Amino acid sequence: MNEREILATELRWGAVVAAAVGLIVGVIVVSSAALIMHPPSNVETINPGTLHIEGEFVEANLGTRVGADGAVVTRMIATQFAFVPRCIAVPAGRPVTIRVTSPDVIHGFLITGTNVNTMVIPGYVSQVRTVFNRPGDRLMPCHEFCGLGHSEMWNIVRIVPEAEWKVDQQGRASCDGPG
Ligand code: CUA
Repeated sequence: MNEREILATELRWGAVVAAAVGLIVGVIVVSSAALIMHPPSNVETINPGTLHIEGEFVEANLGTRVGADGAVVTRMIATQFAFVPRCIAVPAGRPVTIRVTSPDVIHGFLITGTNVNTMVIPGYVSQVRTVFNRPGDRLMPCHEFCGLGHSEMWNIVRIVPEAEWKVDQQGRASCDGPG
């Protein structure tokens, strides 16, 4: 093999690598811009030791609530080994903000068939905003190994068609219906 052939081989190899890098960058750009997939950007701290006694994540405030301004906010606790509440109801076709935190270890969750996917870290509030377009029940598993019960840790997300969406006087919605 002479020097010319070696150079040609290296240039071919360089072209293959450049094409691979270009493809990967293209996939990242398309998935983030067109499919709206990107890392969650919310940075908000909270004391994991007092979640159950004060503030936003006390048990009575968990679940889905529609505010006076019409904004839909769902709050959950991710704890070994369950999400609380076990089922959340959300309206189809409207922006929904999901806020989750953990009192114990790192968890994570995704909602099947949607772009919702984030980690849940003690001391931080994970927040995801999305619109659920197709009504029906979706699975929401914990996707971060959190201990022996990890595989049993999952939730149901009930996406309710707009025509059937109802809340009680406090603006709350649950999987059992209003109230
Ligand atoms: Cu929680 Cu795995």
